[in-house]
Amino acid sequence: MEMIAHLDDLRARVRDWRTAGQGVAFVPTMGNLHAGHLTLIEAARMRAPRVVASIFVNPLQFGPSEDLDAYPRTLEQDREHLRTAGCDLLFAPSVATMYPRGDERQTRVEVPGLSDILCGETRPGHFRGVATVVCKLLNMVQPDVALFGEKDFQQLLVIRRMVEDLAFPIEIVGIPTVREADGLAMSSRNGYLDADERARAPSLHRALLAARAELLRGVAVDAVEAQATAALREAGLVPDYVSVRVVTDLRPATASDPDLVILAAAYLGRARLIDNLRVSRDEVA
Ligand code: PAJ
Repeated sequence: MEMIAHLDDLRARVRDWRTAGQGVAFVPTMGNLHAGHLTLIEAARMRAPRVVASIFVNPLQFGPSEDLDAYPRTLEQDREHLRTAGCDLLFAPSVATMYPRGDERQTRVEVPGLSDILCGETRPGHFRGVATVVCKLLNMVQPDVALFGEKDFQQLLVIRRMVEDLAFPIEIVGIPTVREADGLAMSSRNGYLDADERARAPSLHRALLAARAELLRGVAVDAVEAQATAALREAGLVPDYVSVRVVTDLRPATASDPDLVILAAAYLGRARLIDNLRVSRDEVA
């Protein structure tokens, strides 16, 4: 597997592949790769003869009091994982390559509405940072298809909306969340948890499973959200939100919407954990 840090080299390699008639699938990441990321690489391999991954810890999407400096950087280990998973090219640009004018003067991409709710309320500017870097990476790599995890469900919808609104000729594919055996969604930030916190962390997924069961029993959305929030507190987490939303655009769910997603975020020690679960009320009708 080749590793490239500069845009000209990336473009030259992708041009060679295109000349040979080979399509390209792309998986953007911030590194510290785990089995969730590698599932995206495997799914990418099924969709195109060439697979590009990127590793870039994007300063634009971190708030001033967030974990940019502490974010785990494990490039050598990540390279080995990517090579084994069958990735053809790793694009690992520096901050100066991505933002040569500095992050303050970088043109931004704003997806209004979707970026301002849920995680966007707690992390102002986060989704602008995500949309900006993903827009730029998509223009750099120019893939046919790009893959993202449903674990970051709001992020996936923000990216889909950006790609649709700006008419990128790129298919966006969402991949189901990969979990640990006890249900905890895999995340680079799980490494922040100590042993006691790690033992409590699966209560986030358990609260979502219970909430789904309640919704399917016909319990009202408000009551379901309140119960799940209480369950998180009882398990020693500090809930940020638990919210039942319509799966297509994350507007608040009403009694008649059939396809929902329950999204939750909670603090546990140094970590901010997120998770979500889809609910189809048609299944029980
Ligand atoms: P990162 O957190 O490294 O995640 C990279 C991709 O892996 C994202 O699409 C994310 O949703 C997916 N992913 C993470 N954990 C997963 C899991 N347990 N199961 C399935 N997929 C999972 O998300 C980002 O980086 C950044 O915001 C990025 C899109 C790269 C822009 O900087």
